[in-house]
Amino acid sequence: MTTARTCLAIVLAAGEGTRMRSTKPKVLHTVAGRSLLAHVLAAVAEADVSAAAIVVGPGQEAVVAEARRVLPGAAFFVQHQRRGTADAVLAARAAIERWRPDDILILYGDTPLIRAATLSRLRAPLAAGTAVAVLGFRPAAPDGYGRLIVADDRLLAIREEAEASPSERTIGLCNGGIMALAGRHALAILERIGNQNRKREFYLTDAVEIARGMKLEAAAIEVEEDDVRGINTKTQLAETEAVAQRRLRQAALDQGVTLIAPETVFLCADTAFGKDVVVEPYVVFGEKVTVEDGAVIRSFSHLAGAHVGKGASVGPFARLRPGTRLGEGARVGNFVEVKEASLEAGAKANHLSYIGDAVVGAQANIGAGTITCNYDGSDKHRTEIGEKAFIGSNSALVAPVRIGAGAYIGSGSVITDNVPAGALALARGRQVIKEDAAARLRSLKALGKRKTHP
Ligand code: UD1
Ligand code: CA
Repeated sequence: MTTARTCLAIVLAAGEGTRMRSTKPKVLHTVAGRSLLAHVLAAVAEADVSAAAIVVGPGQEAVVAEARRVLPGAAFFVQHQRRGTADAVLAARAAIERWRPDDILILYGDTPLIRAATLSRLRAPLAAGTAVAVLGFRPAAPDGYGRLIVADDRLLAIREEAEASPSERTIGLCNGGIMALAGRHALAILERIGNQNRKREFYLTDAVEIARGMKLEAAAIEVEEDDVRGINTKTQLAETEAVAQRRLRQAALDQGVTLIAPETVFLCADTAFGKDVVVEPYVVFGEKVTVEDGAVIRSFSHLAGAHVGKGASVGPFARLRPGTRLGEGARVGNFVEVKEASLEAGAKANHLSYIGDAVVGAQANIGAGTITCNYDGSDKHRTEIGEKAFIGSNSALVAPVRIGAGAYIGSGSVITDNVPAGALALARGRQVIKEDAAARLRSLKALGKRKTHP
């Protein structure tokens, strides 16, 4: 029988990430619509950890806020100067002393594709008495990573690239950056790490050699590159995005979603699909989209913060912005934008419309070119359209305005007043007919007269 071992996760998120060439903290850049930090914290939450400590830089309130959002129970520590990864771990010394965990997992906020299952594999050797375990991998391009020095299957040291000799640089097995430390040895090891190196940094990676010097064991667990891709540059961010997208598309396909050209569909970490959903080529899903059974998303549509009901149809060329809710069988066609609006069951807006801050009742029909004029330059107003109402093409509905159930709006109307249920509303200039005037107009044009309009 095994007793459950306690585990403290320490996530390092200090430092500005200068190689990103951005004013935004590195760990707040996103992959699959979710910050790098949120990815790491999601893996931590899913792994069997008892407590989490997050190390941030001074003044990084945005990083703290993001971490709180994802993992409300986490404790925060500030590393006042960026003096290296070992120094960052020691910023959370109080957490180690308070919780006295059996295991400590150290994760980097810039390594977002780590999975909970991989964290369990990393912890496994600790239960057998190993003091330090690291994740190793063989990247296509090893530049920038620490190299693992292994002899007779034993991990002897990690050599940072800046310190490595030319022959050490030819080693293909690299440090994934994620480490597990036995809680009872952790502080003794960390306190012995110095900064006698080219960068004058306290390298966490020195923990391996120090543990060996203390006659403790260290182990490397080899994993696939995708689990431990670190992000230091925008190029690496893009490469990691590609991997995340491949994983998400595969998960959608495995779940039964029909992706006609999966490589052209972009998903978010939280995109949720029901059964028998079809997604045509070239569709982008932003955050918080749910698509229910049998819905079809046609090409070149962009969805974010939207709920697509059963059997609904979206696009081609539709834009669903946050707050959109499409009921069962609703249809949103080409060049239609919807924002903060619900189209109830069977409602249709098939062509060229803007529907914002609105409720469109069941079975209502929105004609081509209809616009809800929701913004008066300072405030937003709502439009309510009753069920089975018919809005003629090219109508402007000036909000706040209410169109009753079954009402009929003549094409080209500018509706500024409420329309009762069942009423017909016409709000446009009356047509003028001038008999035989067409020929007169043409002869004036031919004479080159300046004023040629009727
Ligand atoms: C680190 C490893 C390297 C490994 C690579 C994997 C060290 C010394 N090197 O290198 O062996 O191959 O990750 O991706 O650990 N951080 C702080 N405070 C600091 C320094 C760093 O919080 O003073 C945080 C950063 O925010 C980042 C993480 O630690 O999330 C890693 O730091 P980074 O500078 O990116 O290390 P690498 O040079 O990539
Ligand atoms: Ca890094």
